[in-house]
This record gives sequence, C-alpha cells and structure tokens, in this order.
Amino acid sequence: MHTPPAPTSTAQDRLRALPKAEVHAHLEGCFEPGLLASWAQQAGVALPRPVDQLFAFQGLADFLHFLDWACGLANTPERLAQLAYAYSQRLADNGAGYADLIVNPSHWTAWQGRLPAMLDAIDAGLGAAEQDGLPPVNLCISLLRTQSAHAAVQLVEQLVALRHPRVVALSIDGNEAAAGRTGPRFADAFQRAGAAGLKRTVHAGESSGPEGVRDAILLLGADRIDHGVRAIEDPAVVARLVDRQIPLGICPSSNLVLGVYPSLAEHPVDRLYRAGVRVSLNTDDPSLLGASLVGEYQRCQAAFGWTDADLRAMARTSIEASFAPPAMRQQLLQALAAW
Ligand code: ADE
Ligand code: ZN
Repeated sequence: MHTPPAPTSTAQDRLRALPKAEVHAHLEGCFEPGLLASWAQQAGVALPRPVDQLFAFQGLADFLHFLDWACGLANTPERLAQLAYAYSQRLADNGAGYADLIVNPSHWTAWQGRLPAMLDAIDAGLGAAEQDGLPPVNLCISLLRTQSAHAAVQLVEQLVALRHPRVVALSIDGNEAAAGRTGPRFADAFQRAGAAGLKRTVHAGESSGPEGVRDAILLLGADRIDHGVRAIEDPAVVARLVDRQIPLGICPSSNLVLGVYPSLAEHPVDRLYRAGVRVSLNTDDPSLLGASLVGEYQRCQAAFGWTDADLRAMARTSIEASFAPPAMRQQLLQALAAW
C-alpha cells in the first residue's frame, strides 16, 4: 500500500527546492568529526576532548581555538580539496545554487607562507565539484580581528598581486570581543581591497554590539555584513542598514550554539527583516555547529510563521547579496520566480 510521505519531509523538500545561495559559511567549519578523528590518528595527535564531545564548544573563543587545531590537520592539497568539494556537495544537498565561502588563512597552520598553493588546492576541489555538476563556489579570503594592521595590508597586497580567479572578496572574522574596537586598524586594508576591485564582507555585531556594525559600514566599506544581528540594539544603526540596503548574512543556529542568543524566539532575524533590513539565512560553520541551510529556513519558518513570500524574500536576498557573476545571479533569480 502506498504510504504518503510525512508532512515534515514534504515541507523539507519544498525548502530544498527553493532556489537560493549561501553567503556566509566558512571552510573552517566544514570538518566532519570522523574525518578529523582519522586525520588526528594518522598524525599521532590526541583529540582535544573525547570524540563524542569534540564539537561541544564553550562559546566563540573556545570555538576559534578549536579551528586552529582542526585546520592544522589539513596539511595536504588533497585534504583541502576534499573539504572544498564536500562543501559544494553540501550546497547541492540543500538546494543552493551558489556560495561565497570564507577561508581564513591564519587558521591553516600547515599553509603559513604558502597562500598561492593553498588557494590552488581549494580551487582544485571546487573545480572538481563544478565538473561533477555541483554548485559553483567563490572565495572570500579573511583577516582575523586579532591580527595587526600590517599583517592585514600584507595579505591584501598579496591577494591583489595574485588576482586568483576564485577570490572575489576580502573578509574579516574572529573575536571582536577579544580584540576591542578594531575598525580603524583594518580601514586601510579594506580601502585597498575595494580600490583593487575586491568586494568587502565583514563579521560584526556578533561578538561586538551595534557599534561594530557601524564601523563595518563607515570604516570598512562593507558590501555585506556577516551576522550583524546586534545592530538591533541601536535603531540608528538599523536605519543606516535600511538606508544603504546593506545585506546581513544571518546564521541563527550559529548564534544559538555560540551563545549570542538563548533561543530562536529571542533572535532578532525576524525583527530586522520587519524593519526593512535585507537579511539572508546561512549556516556559518555547518558541520561544527550542526547547521544545514534547509534547516535554517525550516526553523525560522516555524519560529516566526514565515509565509512563502517571506521565504522567497530571504532566498532573493541571498542571491542578490552574493558575489556571484551577474549572469549567474540572474539565472538563480529566474529559477526563484518559478518556485
Ligand atoms: N570564524 C568561523 N566562524 C566564526 C564566527 N561565527 N565568528 C567569528 N569568526 C568565525
Ligand atoms: Zn562567520
């Protein structure tokens, strides 16, 4: 006898079929626990904690510390390519047609001083994925908030000289709470990146308050802001985001797991959206934080009662806010219109 699929799976299938992009995810967040355990064993390195608690993080500082350990194990081109390929597969599984992927070279200790080789290895994985019909992915190369102004300018100069076709943007991530106010420190690096034609995306308003979002706009020339959720604490910053139509790449599950908000009900994604801010949904660090793109849409739909029109608006922003080539954006928007 034919059994109809459970309603949840139908709802999931519809969200999977929603044409969308991902604009805020880190390669650093794509390690599966089994893979890390096997790489650690091969290297004769102890896990920092038992494998079943490997991803039990005590907030952002602990999480960033773990990234250094995990990324340190990815010490061959094949491993980088494997991670990159798996990310594109993850996009396909979630019905995304494109992504901007953040990579922060400071975490990948085996690749210090070898940025061109590192980019080529990631590019090989993404190229192989595209060859296999998986979604295209471009890279946003990231500074760390705790770096010096000098190191930041050096990285930008290197990116500008390399002009790697896979690299579309300069990014900055890391712990703003640990670094203090650093907008002025990175203004020169971001100015140079913009002048050289790179897009600019800035983590702010996660471990900083609304003042971090203001600095991202006024000092770093952000085309897009990663998180940005704590802008909600200052109506003037919200108004500025609305005026300038600067999109936020919001990651609700990440904010819950890393303790920015205690529950989805208290998360400001819906209030920002209702205030006219352009918002998209993203996974941040999908494997490490246990998030999936379809899951983010589904959880928000359930928590905030989002209609199909709201979901379509989120997906449209994700595509429009992406740094995909214009023709690819158009194609995705057309597919969205048919959803
Ligand atoms: N790097 C990877 N994930 C991050 C996050 N959520 N905040 C800051 N830096 C990060
Ligand atoms: Zn992030």
